[in-house]
This record gives sequence, structure tokens and C-alpha cells, in this order.
Amino acid sequence: MNLPLDKASFRHAMSHFASGVTIMTTTAAGRMHGMTVSAFSSQSLDPLLILVSVERSTVMHRLVTQSRAFAINILDEQAEGTARFFADNARLGEPEFREGSFQLGVTGAPILKEATGYLEATVHSTLDAGDHTVIVGQVVAMAIGSGKAPLIYYRSGYRTLA
Ligand SMILES: Cc1cc2nc3c(=O)[nH]c(=O)nc-3n(C[C@H](O)[C@H](O)[C@H](O)COP(=O)(O)O)c2cc1C
Repeated sequence: MNLPLDKASFRHAMSHFASGVTIMTTTAAGRMHGMTVSAFSSQSLDPLLILVSVERSTVMHRLVTQSRAFAINILDEQAEGTARFFADNARLGEPEFREGSFQLGVTGAPILKEATGYLEATVHSTLDAGDHTVIVGQVVAMAIGSGKAPLIYYRSGYRTLA
């Protein structure tokens, strides 16, 4: 079915692509911040690079531009609540991270204890692309944890492999 070239159709077409769900985190000027991100991928093996696409209007965009470093926390199937929390502006009025729920990584970014794995990166390069900025990160640390099944975002909803 051909679709018209408009935003709604673009969203609908893209919703057919299943992705994992991550929480991108950073610390800038003492402020810890997290944001739900599905536009994340591996970019290069040599050197080790990752890629995220961050909307220019977000708080994250402003803070990562300052900090020049970030972490990507990969969520498992039990973390839907966390994904919803970090995509909701209601979180911004108070501290976003509960004591005991995170540790600071080598970049200073919060690492969520519930993450099934994480990668930390310093900003390698950026590309202005429409209303988003593509941020390429040079990986400086990574770890895997529980090995639980991933949280999946597909057709505008959270899913699991089951
Ligand atoms: C499943 C899901 C995936 C998302 N992926 C991205 C993404 O890749 N890039 C982005 O800029 N926003 C993404 N968003 C939207 C942000 O999480 C949301 O706008 C957030 O509130 C922005 O945070 P901030 O302005 O406080 O930094 C996603 C939202 C959801 C629910």
C-alpha cells in the first residue's frame, strides 16, 4: 500500500519496524538526566562506535551537548514502567533517579541497576539531521547483566519476545 508523504504516514510506516528500548543518560553541570531512546544502533567495530538520534528540542539534547558523554542502558522485558517514566515530562519536576537504583559510570552518567546491559560513550561526532541530531559515541565502557529477554517497541506499543 503506497502512503502519502506526510508525518502521520511516516510514523505509521516506521511503527512497523521493531526496536529495542534504552534509557540514554548523562550528567551535565551536576544534573543527572535520562530519556527513553529507541533510535540507537551499533555504528562501527573499528573504532567502537554507537549512534543515537536525539530530538533537538529535548532536555537531553541540551545536556549531552554540554557533557559530551552519555550512557545507553538497555532495558529488559520487565522495564516497561522505566521506559514510560523516562519518556514522560512529568518526571522533570523532581530528581529522576532514586537512590540505590543507579551507579555512576566512568563518564559520570547514571547506570541503571535494572539495565540488562549498558554502553558508555564520549561524543565522537554529530550530524544535524532535520529536527534531530545524530550523535555518534565512542564507546569507553560496557557491561552486560541479567541476560533477560529484551523490551521491544513495535506498532506504538511495548512488546516482549513471547
Ligand atoms: C519508545 C520510545 C522511544 C523513543 N525514542 C526516542 C529517540 O530515539 N530519540 C528521541 O529524541 N526521543 C525519543 N523518544 C521520546 C523521548 O523519550 C521523550 O520526548 C522524552 O520525554 C524527552 O526527554 P527530555 O526532553 O526530558 O530530555 C522516545 C519515546 C518513546 C516512548
